[in-house]
Amino acid sequence: MKHNIAVLLSGNGSNLKAMIDNSIDVCFVVSNNPNALGLKIAKNENIPAYCWQNILELEEEVLKLILKYDVKLLVLAGYMRLLSKNFVNSLPSKFIVNVHPSLLPKYKGMNAIKQAMEDSAEFTGVTIHYVDKDMDSGSIIKQNSIKINSVDTAESLKDRLQEIEHRLYSDTIKSILIKN
Ligand code: GRF
Repeated sequence: MKHNIAVLLSGNGSNLKAMIDNSIDVCFVVSNNPNALGLKIAKNENIPAYCWQNILELEEEVLKLILKYDVKLLVLAGYMRLLSKNFVNSLPSKFIVNVHPSLLPKYKGMNAIKQAMEDSAEFTGVTIHYVDKDMDSGSIIKQNSIKINSVDTAESLKDRLQEIEHRLYSDTIKSILIKN
């Protein structure tokens, strides 16, 4: 059965690529950043890709696209803006998901990897969670943890976390869609 998901992103789009490689049907991609590599990935895959730099306009247009494409799940994959309360309240609960590179509720917001390292945390990880109107605060769906090694740099830790994200996010999206 075909389930439509839509992806919002601002950057590289490696999670988008992982979803496509895992046979998840992405019906459109939206970015606030015209230079996002994720937009190129979408275009190469013939997935409709849109960009609005004005956030109010972006949210208005995304709401229209969600109806047009009969979207079942809105997936944030490196979308670097906080969604407005209005936007979140316009959609059903548990309609938006996000991936965050820490074991939430620890290290919310930007620089989660740096925060974990500066805190000398023994473990960090990846959290997939539903999105509510606050930052990185919606209910947690899945988490995977890894040990921070003494040789880790922010870069090596990011790479190890992204490897987890790519598998965990696709698996989690699939299991949500199966239940819906
Ligand atoms: C991911 O590391 C995710 O945890 C964070 O933004 C990053 C997006 O990476 N929310 P990419 O654009 O999918 O490569």
